[in-house]
Amino acid sequence: MMLLTILSLVFMTNDTINHNQNNQNNNNMKFELIKLPYATDALAPVISQKTIEFHYGKHLQTYVNNLNNLIQGTQFENAALETIVTESEGGLFNNAGQVLNHNLYFTQFSPNGGGQPTGKLATAINEVFGSFDNFQKEFETAGVGLFGSGWVWLAADHAGKLSIVKEPNAGNPVTKGLTPLLGFDVWEHSYYLDYQNRRADHLKELWKIVDWNVVGGRLK
Ligand SMILES: [Fe+2]
Repeated sequence: MMLLTILSLVFMTNDTINHNQNNQNNNNMKFELIKLPYATDALAPVISQKTIEFHYGKHLQTYVNNLNNLIQGTQFENAALETIVTESEGGLFNNAGQVLNHNLYFTQFSPNGGGQPTGKLATAINEVFGSFDNFQKEFETAGVGLFGSGWVWLAADHAGKLSIVKEPNAGNPVTKGLTPLLGFDVWEHSYYLDYQNRRADHLKELWKIVDWNVVGGRLK
């Protein structure tokens, strides 16, 4: 009986230590990989399961890990993601920017997406671009014309006026005081497994999975 009591005390202590260590680790991991709002194969054939597994599971996870490592011991240790993106530079900016960019990217799609925006966003698009068709053309042209790696964004200013913003590498319109609404990733890692060099074809296909409720909800 005595032995059992001692053993259970030992196990309890070990459990408590492990539990505390896990909490400690969780506290240190400030930023976590976002959860996808769909299954990894749900966006196929526009984006294949394989591309999601690499793009989300490997590339985004690496940006998250790098960000968590790079903020340690800096003024950004407890900062919000958008604050880090707007105020940091160098490697920290690149990784924070890519976490923000991909969080917006992966949550703006749905297997039930496509069609056209409605309400305030539709009105705002028509005001600036004349029509949804024309907006799509200009957005695709901007994405195709972006040299190298980067992002094409639909962004809104404080008055709700829209513009198309081309950003190189990890750029995000928040650094210009704008709100990002929709972002197409034109890094080759986002499309090369499925479309190889055909970036224009990939961008054209993406419209089929855009969740306009999510994108419209970003317009304040
Ligand atoms: Fe990407």
